[in-house]
Amino acid sequence: MSIRSKTLELRRRMSDALQGGGEKAVEKQKATGKLTARERILSILDPNSFHEYDLFVEHSGREFGMDKKYLPGDGVITGTGTMQGHPVCIFAQDFTVAGGSLGYMHAKKITKIMDHAMKLKVPLIGINDSGGARIQEGVNALAGYGDIFYRNTAASGVIPQISVILGPCAGGAVYSPALTDFVFVVDKISKMFITGPEVIKSVLGEDISQEDLGGARVHAEISGNAHFFAESEDECFNQIKKLINYIPFNNTRKADAIPVKNPKTKEYKVENFFPSDPKKPYDVRNIIRSVSDNSDFLEIQELFAPNIVIGFGRINGETVGYVANQPLCMAGVLDVDSSDKAARFIRYCNAFNIPLVTLVDLPGYLPGIDQEYAGVIRHGAKILYAYSEATVPKITIILRKAYGGGYIAMCSNHLKADFVFAWPTAEIAVMGPEGAANIIFRNEIMSADNPEDMRQKKIAEYREKFANPYVAAAYGYVDAVIKPEETRNYIIHALKISANKAEVSPAKKHGLPPF
Ligand code: HXC
Repeated sequence: MSIRSKTLELRRRMSDALQGGGEKAVEKQKATGKLTARERILSILDPNSFHEYDLFVEHSGREFGMDKKYLPGDGVITGTGTMQGHPVCIFAQDFTVAGGSLGYMHAKKITKIMDHAMKLKVPLIGINDSGGARIQEGVNALAGYGDIFYRNTAASGVIPQISVILGPCAGGAVYSPALTDFVFVVDKISKMFITGPEVIKSVLGEDISQEDLGGARVHAEISGNAHFFAESEDECFNQIKKLINYIPFNNTRKADAIPVKNPKTKEYKVENFFPSDPKKPYDVRNIIRSVSDNSDFLEIQELFAPNIVIGFGRINGETVGYVANQPLCMAGVLDVDSSDKAARFIRYCNAFNIPLVTLVDLPGYLPGIDQEYAGVIRHGAKILYAYSEATVPKITIILRKAYGGGYIAMCSNHLKADFVFAWPTAEIAVMGPEGAANIIFRNEIMSADNPEDMRQKKIAEYREKFANPYVAAAYGYVDAVIKPEETRNYIIHALKISANKAEVSPAKKHGLPPF
């Protein structure tokens, strides 16, 4: 055979494989508002950068007539490419081929690209759209999932792992995304659950739709399993591209710095939105924007536990991870969900060499029977653990309230923050003046001729003495009391000074965070 005829044969084979599940299946996919697996990869990656591997892999199922079936690429597309110039490994399950179900060779393709990502030390992006374990392949399909979970765990904290849920992701299949760093979901398209509506109906007699059980909103707002919510696949791909710009390729590097000459932060002047009344709420995201380059901020888990805000921005070109109490929601208290949300993010930043900037304004941990029963002790401890073990530069700014356990937990000097700055509006105390006065001056208030007058007098006395940054500053727990408009400059200086920070943790196999 001549080279020409061999090349023609290659073309024919490629053309067969590139059909995916065929015209009808592709039509069905499109009718549900979804792109095909290949379109998704091409939309995420830089133009002409995708190199596909293992196109000719064939499935190994032999039972239930599978030996007579041709499943192009075995229902998953894998390869490498670049995103905004960053190298990545990628796979996308092809629902048009046997419902993207995971058989032995399908799993082998995924684990091979995962191993590749680990060897090359580049991010891994996985697009999930699958009916789960291929039922005809039995234990071999389950084995495939086990092999994937093992690799997700080994890669955790070494390379960024991004999961994009663009279809069903049911049963044990959900645990691969759950083991990765960031989960993206799209409204009306993503569906994630351990057991679907039919099983729930037969076991518990409860009726629920797939959407209400495990739709995108459920995971973005209620369960917290998703980190980014989008209205469309296009919006989702743009979110992924933004994220990839903020994070490093792997844990041995820092994220690329993107210096800006004249950052536009002027419209976010603190005095425009920071209230003079200490009881009034405000949106802490405006403070974040007031210190970030170009006022850019990529918020993560925006809809889940909104009493804490987390996300990435850049300061003087360098990526930082923000953790900020949100006075707009429940006065910014720490509770079970916000502690989980913040702790995981702190650990992500620490694993990937991203300095932490913490903005503090909270009345403490949320009291209540519900919270105690839900394990606020265990969950609340996660944030203490995460900040204490973090060795990246840690910069804390106390804006207003820093009461009780909340003061300690929000990256205080005692958890080894490298820099703690306080605004003159900071109130650092065991609790708010009202609560404090009611407890320590109870007898005086009760026995006064006018108890209410006395209460107000004692509240004012307590506020005057303790509700300020100067007592903490007198003990050196606050390094500097700064004017709000100096905040960005102080952070820039702190980042510069701590660029060579190298803190060594005590030798151990691993710690035991309160999972
Ligand atoms: C084999 C599968 C499949 C599967 C779908 N298909 N899921 N084939 N194994 N798990 C096939 C269908 O037979 C069909 O083939 C094609 O994919 C498209 O599926 P449809 O049902 O027509 O699509 P749709 O109506 O959109 O429904 C999608 C679905 C449904 C909701 C995902 O297919 C479904 O419920 N599938 C089974 C889900 C499941 O129970 N999986 C096992 C989970 S347990 P044809 O040839 O007709 O086109 C699990 C254990 C993992 O994953 C454990 C790890 C620890």
